[in-house]
Amino acid sequence: MHLLLALAIVALSSVLTAAQTNLSVFDFPEYPPPLTPPPNQTIADSVATLPADQIGHNPALAHVRVHVDTGKFGPPVELVHAYFDFWPTGVAVNSEGKIFTSFPRGNETFTLAVANTPTTEVPFPDQETNTPPAFVDPSNPGVSVATDKFILVQSVIVDGLDRIWALDVGRPRVNGSTLLAATPGGPKLVGFHPNGTRFTTITFPTSVVAADSSLNDVRIDLRGDGFAYLPDSSPQRPGVVVVNLRTGVSWRHLDNHPSVITQVDLISFHNGVPTYVHPPISPFAVTAFNRFAVDGVALSPDGAFFYFAPLSARRLFRIPTSFLKVQPSATNPNAILLANQAVQDLGDVGSHLNGLESDDQGFIYLTAPEHNAINRFNPNTGMIEPFVRSPFIQWPDTLAVASLKPGGNFLYFTCNQLWLSPDYQNGTDLRTKPYAMYRVPIEGGKANQL
Ligand SMILES: *[C@@H]1O[C@H](CO)[C@@H](O)[C@H](O)[C@H]1NC(C)=O
Ligand SMILES: *[C@@H]1O[C@H](CO)[C@@H](O)[C@H](O)[C@H]1NC(C)=O
Ligand SMILES: *[C@@H]1O[C@H](CO)[C@@H](O)[C@H](O)[C@H]1NC(C)=O
Ligand SMILES: *[C@@H]1O[C@H](CO)[C@@H](O)[C@H](O)[C@H]1NC(C)=O
Ligand SMILES: *[C@@H]1O[C@H](CO)[C@@H](O)[C@H](O)[C@H]1NC(C)=O
Ligand SMILES: *[C@@H]1O[C@H](CO)[C@@H](O)[C@H](O)[C@H]1NC(C)=O
Repeated sequence: MHLLLALAIVALSSVLTAAQTNLSVFDFPEYPPPLTPPPNQTIADSVATLPADQIGHNPALAHVRVHVDTGKFGPPVELVHAYFDFWPTGVAVNSEGKIFTSFPRGNETFTLAVANTPTTEVPFPDQETNTPPAFVDPSNPGVSVATDKFILVQSVIVDGLDRIWALDVGRPRVNGSTLLAATPGGPKLVGFHPNGTRFTTITFPTSVVAADSSLNDVRIDLRGDGFAYLPDSSPQRPGVVVVNLRTGVSWRHLDNHPSVITQVDLISFHNGVPTYVHPPISPFAVTAFNRFAVDGVALSPDGAFFYFAPLSARRLFRIPTSFLKVQPSATNPNAILLANQAVQDLGDVGSHLNGLESDDQGFIYLTAPEHNAINRFNPNTGMIEPFVRSPFIQWPDTLAVASLKPGGNFLYFTCNQLWLSPDYQNGTDLRTKPYAMYRVPIEGGKANQL
């Protein structure tokens, strides 16, 4: 017998023996990770007596302790910001703890902001940059404009040099309209020095970002030429956009690949209730929760893997970035085929996902809106580990790891109740203000990608 196989069998039988002697439901092989509270506080199982009005009429049942889901496990969830005004998606935090955040633009007066108090935000870098000359092209209704000002900033990140990058989708949604079409020069990636001075504005040709594209997020690797990776979450045009940051040249990969598209029949559950798309506009059709293609993205700390997941699916994927960095061209005619063949399906993750994030230990944090939780993928074991769960985690949207100069590594995240917005509730807005931003401590630090 092969030595490794023999060792594996010995290891497996000792695991089985341990499993037989540990009769606790709390005994996870890879869990709890270091620095987390005792198992009886980290897994959501407990026992309790029922309230007096729920024990029936038999006094013998009054003191019976029965198994119950506490709704929480993992490190304490700390509220760090409350949004009383605009509806947030993105969050990024620099090494000084300054919080940047973005708001998809309906009638909002600004779309990129910095938190100036725990309950208020102000435009970043200023109001002027947040004020485009128009939202709609007057000579072409239904289409937006080209401008170096912000139209709709969906995502904001802080890179390993503490610089701020804003991703402008270029497609506003004003006065309750559907997203307007983009025009080249509207969608853009804008970089700011830590002091707020703009140092780059990268726009895209229509062959890379089309009128109905919906760039959703960005991750940046500053090694070599520097590369940016952006998911196109448009259900009409799912794929991944890659930018060479030295030349500004961009290209697409994974167009319509099975890993980037929506699961057509997904019915997601939030707080236990099934959620459908049910917009208040013609044809008023109730459909599955299938609107958003590839959405959350993360880079492994060494920059070797790009992790991604459609919002409307419950699967995680990754691809070696070496395939994405090759621009399809006459000199690289096989680049698209080779990239498509290099995608790794990491399997079912138990919830549809929104944001992803990595840390410098290689964990990939996974939002789990269906479980009021954030779990994490461990690339060493191939397993999903429970990380944090709380009834207050009401649709975790965007994740951001920050290593703070005064000390402390944290995972920050926005919770925005997206499934309660009018498009899913037959036109009624069931969201309640304030929207929330939380943070939890993590063992690892920020993956700087330098
Ligand atoms: C499970 O049982 C094994 C063997 O008795 C023991 O070494 C281990 O500490 C136990 N694990 C827990 C979590 O109690
Ligand atoms: C969890 O277990 C520890 C001992 O391992 C005990 O001190 C603590 O009281 C327990 N907590 C709860 C909530 O049962
Ligand atoms: C934007 O403002 C207009 C005019 O006040 C209002 O009718 C509309 O409902 C608002 N739309 C949104 C998305 O808030
Ligand atoms: C939105 O509605 C307001 C109030 O009716 C109007 O002044 C504004 O021009 C509208 N904006 C667009 C882009 O249609
Ligand atoms: C902001 O920082 C950049 C990079 O350090 C520097 O070049 C620029 O002059 C600074 N701008 C201001 C207004 O201080
Ligand atoms: C959805 O809203 C429309 C218009 O208000 C109403 O006629 C319809 O009954 C609603 N449908 C459901 C399932 O609530």
